[in-house]
Amino acid sequence: MSHQSSTQTIPDVASIPRHIAIIMDGNGRWATQRFLPRVAGHGKGVEAVRDVVEACVDRGVQYLTLFAFSSENWRRPAEEVSLLMRLFVTALEREVAKMHANGIRLKVVGDLTRFDPKLQQLIALAERRTANNTRLTLTICANYGGRWDIMQAVRKMVVAAPGRSEFTEEELAPHLAMAYAPEPDLFIRTGGEERISNFLLWQLAYTELYFTDTYWPDFNGAALDEAIASYQHRERRFGRTSEQVVEQKKAS
Ligand code: IPE
Ligand code: IPE
Ligand code: MG
Repeated sequence: MSHQSSTQTIPDVASIPRHIAIIMDGNGRWATQRFLPRVAGHGKGVEAVRDVVEACVDRGVQYLTLFAFSSENWRRPAEEVSLLMRLFVTALEREVAKMHANGIRLKVVGDLTRFDPKLQQLIALAERRTANNTRLTLTICANYGGRWDIMQAVRKMVVAAPGRSEFTEEELAPHLAMAYAPEPDLFIRTGGEERISNFLLWQLAYTELYFTDTYWPDFNGAALDEAIASYQHRERRFGRTSEQVVEQKKAS
């Protein structure tokens, strides 16, 4: 079998991860701990996003993917959902010019059809405006679910090959929402929970996982460096033995 995905090549962990994917969790608990409304935590969370994006640009990370709103988050109280939507709109309005100036390409992935048309338009404009930037690709996963992603990819793959019933992994991968990026090297979840919560399911197959108790609003460049340092001590084997990995490293 010939595979092109990073599941088969061995990226050097000694260097900076090419792609970092983060579940930004703990905003509500951060606020509650301070006797503030949950929404205050989301507001503070936006500041942490700014800090971590800057740190990624600075450290030379090429792809940063942030889980902002899951397909399950609609289950939250209506006021919280609508505040999150408003925060998303303001953040786009305020930050896109600066992102563009800093060479950041913005992508928003997920089922966007459920969003307000005004928000959909803002997203489309921001993506178009920053499309040719190459310093960092920042992906915001909004109304995203890993199962949704796999299903929409399967649908597209089947439609593209009428009458066929046999397919390979290589044929599915290009239809996934983040086909433009390599699979994440490092996954971070803040806020203490140790689960994937329907984030990138297909793409995380061989990603190194890092969990921290730090609530997202307290996460910053220094905390990111700690996660990267932990990553750099891992040995990524992709099914091989440790000896094989060491041999391959020597040969390259
Ligand atoms: C993550 O923080 C932000 C979103 C899911 C939008 P939470 O709001 O889940 O914070 P906790 O987990 O309740 O503390
Ligand atoms: C995951 O956080 C989704 C985002 C950070 C956007 P949740 O707080 O919604 O996850 P669960 O419900 O605790 O698994
Ligand atoms: Mg949470």
